Amino acid sequence: MKINFTDARPQDADVLAFIVTKSTFADFKFPLEKTDIIHATAKLARFEGAAGQNFLLINEEGGKLVRIVLLGVAEGATADYQKAGGDIVAKVQTSGAKHIAIHAGNLSAQHAAEVAYGATLRNWRMDKYRTKLPETSKPTVEALTVVAAPADASGHWTNYQAVAEGVALTKELVTEPANIIYPESFVERCQHLKELGVEISVLDDKDMAALGMGALLGVAQGSRRPARMLVMKWDGTGGTQERPVALVGKGVTFDTGGISIKPAAGMEDMKWDMGGAGAVAGAMKALAGRKAKAYVVGVCGLVENMPDGNAQRPGDVVTSMSGQTIEVLNTDAEGRLVLCDALHWVQEKYNPEYVVDLATLTGAIIVSLGSEYAGLFSNSDELADKLTAAGKASGDPLWRFPLSKAYDKMIDSPIADMKNIGGKGAGSITAAQFLGRFIKDGVKWAHLDIAGTVWADKPGPVWDKGATGFGVRLLDRFVADNFEG
Ligand code: BES
Ligand code: MN
Ligand code: ZN
Repeated sequence: MKINFTDARPQDADVLAFIVTKSTFADFKFPLEKTDIIHATAKLARFEGAAGQNFLLINEEGGKLVRIVLLGVAEGATADYQKAGGDIVAKVQTSGAKHIAIHAGNLSAQHAAEVAYGATLRNWRMDKYRTKLPETSKPTVEALTVVAAPADASGHWTNYQAVAEGVALTKELVTEPANIIYPESFVERCQHLKELGVEISVLDDKDMAALGMGALLGVAQGSRRPARMLVMKWDGTGGTQERPVALVGKGVTFDTGGISIKPAAGMEDMKWDMGGAGAVAGAMKALAGRKAKAYVVGVCGLVENMPDGNAQRPGDVVTSMSGQTIEVLNTDAEGRLVLCDALHWVQEKYNPEYVVDLATLTGAIIVSLGSEYAGLFSNSDELADKLTAAGKASGDPLWRFPLSKAYDKMIDSPIADMKNIGGKGAGSITAAQFLGRFIKDGVKWAHLDIAGTVWADKPGPVWDKGATGFGVRLLDRFVADNFEG
């Protein structure tokens, strides 16, 4: 879908969208030929311009029939404008309409751009494997024009477009099945970030063995697919930011559970157990795409958790790169084993001031929060507050959980330095405590458990059902608000 900004409504537009509020709707002057019928039918349909409402009618305009879409927002509420854009697309994406014109004469530059942003995000879908999609189910919209917006709307859009492209990459990586996206092919799908100025380096299984990453490699050893560590570096500061922000993603491209195998029902969901790594890759694309004035390193720990004849066994003891030993009591608690080596490595190599990891780490976080919030765990109130604020502002919300010595005791092991599972309760917290044991003194660290928010079983404001792209908008906003002066 091509996005344009123009002064006058394009002749071929066949969807005319208007954003109104409850207080302005009654007297809203549509720049259209027949406005009485719009007000009358909207009233009949009980559309009042309240936030979140929408209404579609077909009417004659300029000698042809067009779709007219009305959307209600609360004045100034960012999320409402994005949702309005998303709702327009949801209503007409496969309707046969080709060209959406959004009237933005009554919007601020930023809100006009946000409508285009929401529409672009909502428009993403993957049809490449659907060879028999009926004509009437295929997307038809080719262009979206924002009409009569204030002058700098297209300037705002340039930034939003970069973020939308990052979100699209994440959705693509998350949606692809595990026979297509595995550690090596994940790396290949991210190579194009080089064109945006991202420096890419890759550690293969031999490199990681030489570094002593026994925890990560223990997970990978039951799979035919060799492990990879993907490292993406973006420095938009010209060297003035000394210590980077490190983003670390869990990239389990498929999680069978290993020898502690998962039940068959629903196991297909574990293709998106790389959602943390997907979010890190998408965030790096967003930051580089909009030339963020910040220094950020993204690391993806990529493995497949399979149960072959070489797989690790429950009870195995592995030695992590940090030197700490781990008793692997459950091979399905593999995400923390991957992350602990990635976290240790990035601290050794880049000396980051802040480390944020993202992982589809525990089913327990879904029990706690469902799919509305991701869990936040941090050793720093300052970092937790910054992430919480970025989450709220971006539409990827976070809810903080505690960390403490009492929970930490639950992962002590009688044979090694720690075990990879806790006790009966607090499964998300003991997982976070495990990761915390790999964070150096003085490093501000946050762990985001995104198991509930990566994949949606119903459409959201700016995503269809399926991959949500969770984390990209959050990380982009966190960097924009705290590191770009
Ligand atoms: N990838 C799963 C967590 C998960 C579950 C993500 C459901 C998304 C949906 C993780 O590797 C896992 O299996 N965790 C176990 C940990 C347990 C064995 C301590 C879990 O949550 O059951
Ligand atoms: Mn698992
Ligand atoms: Zn997993």
